[in-house]
This record gives sequence, structure tokens and C-alpha cells, in this order.
Amino acid sequence: MAGSDATGHAGTPQSATTENIDSILTEDRRFPPPADFSAAAHIRSLDDYRAMQQTARRDPVAFWSGLARSEIQWHRPFNIAFDDSRAPYYSWFGGGQLNVSYNCLDRHLADRADKTAILFEGEPGDVRRISYSELHREVCRFANALKARGIGLGDRVVIYMPMVPEAVVAMLACARIGAIHSVVFGGFSSGSLRNRIEDASARAVITADGGHRDGRIVELKAACDLALSQGCGSVETVFVLRRAGNPVQMKGGRDIWWHEAAAGLSADCEPVWVDSEHPLFLLYTSGSTGTPKGIQHSSAGYLVVVAATMKWVFDIRDSDIFWCTADIGWITGHSYVVYGPLACGATVLMYEGAPAVPDAGRFWSICERHGVTIFYTAPTAIRSLMKMGDSIPARYDLSSLRLLGTVGEPINPEAWMWFRHVIGHERCPIVDTWWQTETGAIMIAPVPGAVTTKPGSCTLPLPGIEADIVDAEGRSITDPYQGGQLVIRRPWPSMLRAVWGNDKRYRETYWEPSGAHYYIAGDTAHRDREGYFWILGRSDDVLKVSGHRLGTMEIESALAAHPRVAEAAVIGKPDETKGETIFAFVVPKGARPTAEYAAELTRDLRAWVATQIGPIAKPETIRYADSLPKTRSGKIMRRLLRDIAQGVPITQDTSTLENEEIVKQLQGQV
Ligand code: PRX
Repeated sequence: MAGSDATGHAGTPQSATTENIDSILTEDRRFPPPADFSAAAHIRSLDDYRAMQQTARRDPVAFWSGLARSEIQWHRPFNIAFDDSRAPYYSWFGGGQLNVSYNCLDRHLADRADKTAILFEGEPGDVRRISYSELHREVCRFANALKARGIGLGDRVVIYMPMVPEAVVAMLACARIGAIHSVVFGGFSSGSLRNRIEDASARAVITADGGHRDGRIVELKAACDLALSQGCGSVETVFVLRRAGNPVQMKGGRDIWWHEAAAGLSADCEPVWVDSEHPLFLLYTSGSTGTPKGIQHSSAGYLVVVAATMKWVFDIRDSDIFWCTADIGWITGHSYVVYGPLACGATVLMYEGAPAVPDAGRFWSICERHGVTIFYTAPTAIRSLMKMGDSIPARYDLSSLRLLGTVGEPINPEAWMWFRHVIGHERCPIVDTWWQTETGAIMIAPVPGAVTTKPGSCTLPLPGIEADIVDAEGRSITDPYQGGQLVIRRPWPSMLRAVWGNDKRYRETYWEPSGAHYYIAGDTAHRDREGYFWILGRSDDVLKVSGHRLGTMEIESALAAHPRVAEAAVIGKPDETKGETIFAFVVPKGARPTAEYAAELTRDLRAWVATQIGPIAKPETIRYADSLPKTRSGKIMRRLLRDIAQGVPITQDTSTLENEEIVKQLQGQV
């Protein structure tokens, strides 16, 4: 695997690894589930959890089939629960037919028609409550608008929208007619949008004039126009929601306002019944190469596990106000803002904007005003809010909260403890949930009424999930604190089905390195004496910057595409708040730059990366040198670069370097 080293902590910065091991060895705080929480929970005790795990282990297919029957309303029942005849292209619940939007909407109309489905707060402060029956009507109407533009079963539709309820309507409207949505995070630039539209050959784009973020308007339609002016020949229609009111240009014949497209259309739309394996969506994510991959998810298997995990991990109830702060542009937004909560008939809170607008109390003010009961966010957000001081959350009444959750990157015990004390007031269990775009749903996390938590550990795999840690030969590592590759030994229903248009990449990335014996997650992890999992970080060239997943190769190719750059290498530098920051080493064309030239080039390159990929991918630091350190076989010596970026002693053998002077240049000493 790329970036491996002899220590078995493949690709993980040495010092971060050591720090993590230290924190595990010294971390002896344990928090059993509060008795009153357990008493009312879906899974009430460790025994119950273990019993479920045993049942799943004895007959995994029967276990998942049982859930598929209880969690989904089927139009036609399935008859082939699991098919591994084309492994690793597995399929689940064959012969069955369903509609995901029906499961998220219609089935709740009998007893939850007036219940709030989406409780929305815009960044400027506008609040909307949308009931299940209203959401059903809006989805049907917009599904009819899509149909009127010729969009139907299997067509790809790109959604590039702010965090507003219409983004959910757009996703469910696609699902209603069997179109495959691909949501592109609104923080990505026109270049990233174009690549994704082209890879998916999308027939339509759904966007908005703009969205509110950090007190500014993010001009989505303008970015969309730019993307479409540079290719994207497959796009016939662009639907434009009026949200921020900023002026936009509408191209005749192609662009249509959402409200005009939906005006006068029926609020009924017969769902298109699709096969279990019909792709529900594609979601592009970074890997070890320069191009993101379109992770393809199924309809039935995906829905079963997102719904089940809402109950197991979030212990969801009808009375909850569930707030997951993720953007719908990420998998967390798909599974725990849209499909999971709505499949369970829950009330989900959606917030459009940034956490510190108008001040650092915004999140807590939202919790207080809307009576949020379950709050699920990223460690980066917790760390940055923690930095603002305890007095800010202390001003708000957070007594409605009963459960807290984190996702997206390892959480350090200090931030975990802060979350517990200052936000959860010692009362709320914390679920640290490990999973990925590819896994579709949560895989490793404490079941809050059953499993004792430890700060910094995502604890134990969920029932049916055979997570393991293996060495380079694929042997299970049972010794405590020994690092290895995190793998999942058995297929599960919500796993990715394909990399869109690239079967080879699917096979080679996730299965072939193990001889197709297990799924390789791309993370390194340890277990402690009680078998608790502790995630160390990625083992490939993927960065987690503020919880966002970015490929070093993508950023490197963006930098290398700049006319003044000859070559570039990008690594992640551990950072207290963001988890990692982007550190770039650049070989400029021509002679080594003077200080002024370098300062100007740095500004230019940062802006360049923002337009090529998106502002989240801008390097924090750029350092210049005459060449990059490489092994004899031409591979960039990344570990050396990591040591240099962190300013720690170099551990990698540099004797093969042709020009040792380069190290000094990279260290910024000459
Ligand atoms: O490295 C792991 C990290 O996030 C990666 C998956 O990123 P993405 O596909 O963007 O999905 C993020 C949201 C599910 C993983 O390979 N990661 C995710 N959750 C955790 C985590 N690392 C440590 N602890 C977690 N709870």
C-alpha cells in the first residue's frame, strides 16, 4: 500500500503515531452508559449487544435479511438475500423492489403527516418547519419537474446546492423517479464540479443562485456556469433555486428557475419501483490518485443499514430533534441528515451556515432554541469551539441534549472530555463513530446504552460488522496496541457497490491487495486489551483536513498544472485544531525564487488551488526547493517531507539522495 513504512504504521506521521500510542496507554478513563439512558434505549445492555453480535456472526445473511424486512417497506419482497457469485461485486436482497423516497416519506404519512421532518435554520436566521406531508408534496412536485425535462430511471443528476431543505427535496425527487444523484459539496470550485459532472455524464444540474456562508454569499450558479462553459456536454438542464437573491445569468433553453419548473405541477408522483441494487447515488471522494472516484451506493442495502444505525448508535426516537452538522455534500450528510433520519420518521435539524456566525455561540444557541436532543459533529468543530472558551456554551441552556456524537477524524481525548463536560454536562453519552464514504453507514461505534466509552476510542464494531486489524501478511493482530491495517472481513449491505465507470479501481483499491479476502479501509488502527478500536489515521495518501477528505495527489496535480510550477509534493502536517493542514513542497520553474517572488508565488498558488479544487484544498504552507527528494525508484520520500514539515529530526535514510543540499533547502535553512 502506498506510503507504507517498516514500522507498520503505514503513512502515519511518526510523532502522531507515538502520541496516539501514548494517549492510549495512559488513557484509563471509562464512562459506562448512564442507567437511565440504558433503561430506555433500543439496545439496553452489553449482553443484548453481544447477543445481537453473536446472532449476526452465526448467520450474517439471516441477520441482515431480518433487518431488511423490518427496516424497509418493500414493493416486492427479495428472494436472494446475498449473492457473492461475482465477488467482490456483491449484491444484496436480489429480486426485491422498493423506492427509497417512498420509505422516507409515504410510509410516514399515516401516522406522522404533520410531524416536522426538517427543521431548518438559515445563516441569516430564517427558520422553516417542513412536515412530512409538506416534504412529500414538494418532493413529488419537483420529481414531476425533473420528469418534465425528460429525466428518468438511471439518469445522473448533479446537485450543487447550499444546505437548504430544497437540497433534500432534490435528492429525494431523484430517488422517487430512479434517477441517480451525485451531490457535489458547495465548497468545491467549478473545476471540481466540472470533473464530477463529466465523469458521471450528468443530464441535469440542480443548483441555487447562492448560499449563505460565513456572512458571505457563495455564488453557486456562477461556478456552475463556469464549469458548463468548459465542457459538460451531457448537461441539458440546469435547475436554479432562488435562495440568496444574488443576480445570476440564465441561459435560455438550458436554465430554468426551480419555482418556475415546479409551478402548476401535481403534488403527486407515483414512485418508480427499482431493484434493490439500483444505484441510489454516486458520491465522489478522494483516493490515492489524482482523480476522485465516484463511490456508487445501492438502494436497499444502503437504506437498511443507515436506518438500523440510527437506532443502534443514535437511539433515535419520535420525540428527538436530531442535528447532524455535516453538509449534504459529504457522506455524513447523505446518511445522517437525509436518508437515515427520514427513513426513521425523525425530525432532523438542518443549518445552512458557519458555526461562528454571528458569534461562536451559534451552535449552542441553535441547540437551545430548537431543543436539540442529539448533536452529531466533527472533532475539528469541537476543537475550534473549545478554543473559544467555556463561557460561551455556558450562556446557553443545553439541557435538551441527551446524546452527542463525533465523526470524520480521530478525536483527541482532551476534546472528547471537553465535549462531555462542557456540552454534555456529564449526562450525555458520546458516540465516536468510525466509517467512510465507502461503508455508507457507521461501522464501529459505541452502542450508547450498552457499551462503556473511553475518550479517543470508537470502541467496538456494530453487530454484523466483522472489523479486524491485520498485519502486512493479512494475519489478524490480536496483541494489544500493535498497529495494523483496519479491514472488514465480511461484505455488509451498505458497502459501496462500485467506483463509477471504473471496475478496476474498485477491485484494486479495496479488495485485490488482500486477495479479495476482506475489504481494506485505508486506515491504520490499534486495539487495546479489551478489544476497543483506536483509529490512528489514513494509511494511504489521503488527508483529513478539518474532517474533509482530500487526496495529496489531487492537490499535487493541481499545483503541477500551474504554469510556474515544475513539480510539487503535498503532505499533511498534524495540527491541533484541524487535525491536519496541507503542506506543499514546490519546485518552481526557472531559478530558485527570491523571497519576494516566493511570497507572491505562494499567494498565487493558494488562489490557484482554490479555483482548481476549492478553498478547502489551499495549502497552508508552501516551501520551495530546486528538486524533491526521491528514492532510487523515483518515489517521493514522503516520510522525509513529513519530518521536515514538522521540524523533527529526520528518520528516513537520506544516503540515496543525489543532492543532500536539497534537505537544507526544504528545511528552509538556505
Ligand atoms: O480516516 C478515517 C476518517 O475518515 C475517513 C473517511 O472519510 P470520509 O469518506 O470523508 O467519511 C467521513 C465521514 C464518515 C476514514 O477512513 N474517520 C472517519 N470517522 C472517524 C475517522 N477517523 C477516526 N475516528 C473516526 N470516528
